[in-house]
Amino acid sequence: MRVLILGGDGYLGWPTAMNLTARGHWVAVADNYLRRRLCREENVEPLFGVPNLHERCALWESVSEKQIPVFIGDLTDWEFAAEVFRVSKPDAIVHYAEQPAAPYSMLNRRAAALTLNNNLTVTANVIFAVREYCPDAHIVKLGTMGEYGTPDIDIEEGWLEVDHKGRRHKFLYPRQASSLYHTTKIMDTDLLWFYVRMWNLRVTDLMQGPVYGLFTAENENDDRLLPFFNYDEIFGTVLNRFVVQAVAGYPLTVFGKGGQTRGYINIKDSLNCVRLSLENPAQTGELRIFNQFTETFSVNELAERVTHAGNELGLNVKIQHVENPRKEAEDHYYNPKHTGLLDLGLTPHCLDDKTLEQMMRFVMRYKDRITQDQFYRQVKWA
Ligand SMILES: NC(=O)c1ccc[n+]([C@@H]2O[C@H](COP(=O)([O-])OP(=O)(O)OC[C@H]3O[C@@H](n4cnc5c(N)ncnc54)[C@H](O)[C@@H]3O)[C@@H](O)[C@H]2O)c1
Repeated sequence: MRVLILGGDGYLGWPTAMNLTARGHWVAVADNYLRRRLCREENVEPLFGVPNLHERCALWESVSEKQIPVFIGDLTDWEFAAEVFRVSKPDAIVHYAEQPAAPYSMLNRRAAALTLNNNLTVTANVIFAVREYCPDAHIVKLGTMGEYGTPDIDIEEGWLEVDHKGRRHKFLYPRQASSLYHTTKIMDTDLLWFYVRMWNLRVTDLMQGPVYGLFTAENENDDRLLPFFNYDEIFGTVLNRFVVQAVAGYPLTVFGKGGQTRGYINIKDSLNCVRLSLENPAQTGELRIFNQFTETFSVNELAERVTHAGNELGLNVKIQHVENPRKEAEDHYYNPKHTGLLDLGLTPHCLDDKTLEQMMRFVMRYKDRITQDQFYRQVKWA
């Protein structure tokens, strides 16, 4: 399969590129280094430096003999996006290329405008480029479990059958995001659903929960191939941040009561979900939605897991409840379905002490690079 990865330099994009080429697919990557730029601007650099995308692809070629063409440019620019699609002629597109941080989107008006403009324009350009250059291609788009929010009823996989006054109709499951970033993901889904109906696109929208980890089959023996790893409040996802806090001897910062519950996924499983979706594509004229996580945890439960694993390593980990800068339910019902990807063959890697210890031992090597004021910046929601 010819796969075009948009956002191929990112935390997930780069490991996905290696993973798919290792399994025999042809892959091209496009990125404008937006993520790197925003981290620099906000002074929240990842734990260790990584090579640029050209260098990464050259390194991967030297170990795997797989070539990955690189396109550097901004996918909100139609001329660039059109060129990438025209030259790469993909059978499938993995669309990761968005501003991915909820706290970043809540920083100020400028960050909000960037998130809106970037995320919606890239999605619109992908839709128009597919129609123009590869109308039968399968779009695999990364959404988020955060699109659903935390309703007081079970969360279905994308769709809800509604009985109303004796009649029945299937709708997108009601969505109510808790940040502007998550709201752009809802808008993306609406855009895709509109054009699936208008132009018979084939789309898989993956509602992913927060990802943790950094090791995959392709990078486990070669640090040069690791993804970048943020541990700050803005770009670092919660479990990655807790692991670094544990190593730094900084109390794990649980926001508010800590009952906030979400679905989490190991990076290895995230890559497998994307690959399974590509290899079992949606039908023409179908918007297929999978909930992409393997286990649910409250923040308190995550903090306890990290404390246990850290203490086993002799780290003396402490937990501190801090004022919650976000506006969110801290104690709520949460029961999302997630059978679609399991039915396609996903075998989950569950969170255990071994996984946490492997991450902690790795982070220990970079302990002197940890900047503690990145942990709790208090980006306020209101
Ligand atoms: N990491 C997670 O926990 C998580 C969870 C749920 C959903 N997601 C979604 O998965 C996708 C990938 O997430 P990630 O963690 O790898 O984020 P990331 O920021 O590391 O990767 C996104 C990449 O897209 C690039 N990009 C953004 N806008 C672009 C543009 N206009 N033109 C070209 N390139 C552009 C960025 O530079 C970055 O390299 C995102 O859409 C994110 O919202 C991530």
